[in-house]
Amino acid sequence: MLVEKNVPLQPYNTFHIVAKALVLVRLGKLEDLQAVIAHPELGPAPKFVLGGGSNIVLTGDVKPLVLKVELMGRRLLEETPKAFIVEAGAGESWHGLVAWTLQNGYPGLENLALIPGTVGGSPVQNIGAYGVELQDRFESLDAVDLVTGESFTLNAAQCGFGYRDSVFKHAGTLGLAGRALITRVRLRLPKPWKPVLGYADLDKKMAQTRVASPTAQQIFDWVCEVRRAKLPDPQVTGNAGSFFKNPTVTAEQCADIIAREPRIVHYRLDDGSVKLAAGWLIDACGWKGKSVGQAGVYEKQALVLVNRGGAQGSAGGSGGATGGEVMLLAKAIQTSVYERFGIRLEPEPVVV
Ligand code: EPU
Repeated sequence: MLVEKNVPLQPYNTFHIVAKALVLVRLGKLEDLQAVIAHPELGPAPKFVLGGGSNIVLTGDVKPLVLKVELMGRRLLEETPKAFIVEAGAGESWHGLVAWTLQNGYPGLENLALIPGTVGGSPVQNIGAYGVELQDRFESLDAVDLVTGESFTLNAAQCGFGYRDSVFKHAGTLGLAGRALITRVRLRLPKPWKPVLGYADLDKKMAQTRVASPTAQQIFDWVCEVRRAKLPDPQVTGNAGSFFKNPTVTAEQCADIIAREPRIVHYRLDDGSVKLAAGWLIDACGWKGKSVGQAGVYEKQALVLVNRGGAQGSAGGSGGATGGEVMLLAKAIQTSVYERFGIRLEPEPVVV
């Protein structure tokens, strides 16, 4: 086990915010984690688990011990008449896994193409896009208790999945935030494969290309094209994807808002509640293209906050946006959306 000090975290967070880990240990194998837990000083120290850094805002140097998850491996664990069960190490790239499953003939993850981050991060916030959420393809995961060092396995029910939510995002007695490190994830890809269509952006692609029965590879390519057109590439422009969750309101609240704002983009959910497009709300408040310092609102998608210093910090050497600037911008957006619509937007990324 190698204990590194003062490690720059700019390359390890997709916002490319400049900050350091005071102490960092890379976990390339499970034994590294066991060595940390057994260590007289590192064992009892507070810990921060770092995956792909695609859903965090760093507001300063990270004082807890940073555990950088680099546990690799991908394999077909089992094929049954009803599904392929695929297993991957938590440190694998999520998009790399999606591409690998398609190349090997195990379709089912194509709608989740190009989501930044690692396999281990995918259950934490129950990643989702174009009509599919991780929980729809989830089988189970292995994790290690950061206090006792014991391994355990959780099924979908035990992960407590919700919209961009799971037990791993909650502290306290019911949650596992800061208490567990995900080591491996297993996914269930049902047979026979069925496409998940019906999302407006994919319908548009079907109409444009006149492909009525797309293959999984075709959907993968469409999702990549839609995302590249709408969302900034974190390699070029630092960002953490959608900065806020799409808020849910009751049918009565929605009727009230629609009466005032007839053009509001909304989707009715099965339980009678209504999901509002946070991007539309922010856009309607005029935020597209606005900035606080070097933190800005993306010109093509108001739900995405970006680092105007680019991927490597600004050319002038000021290091690009700070986490403080990102959070100031986020607060100003929340205030203006609340004042105009009476809706509180909840951030998606974890503020560190
Ligand atoms: N809209 C605007 N102005 C904007 C942005 C959006 O009017 O500036 C409108 C769009 O025209 C559209 C609606 O809002 O009618 C929804 O926009 P979009 O289809 O781009 O999806 P979203 O709700 O903004 C969600 C997820 C994305 C996911 C896409 C596709 C959340 C918070 N975000 O975005 O996930 O890729 O749907 O399924 O649920 C992420 O979580 O990081 C992420 C990128």
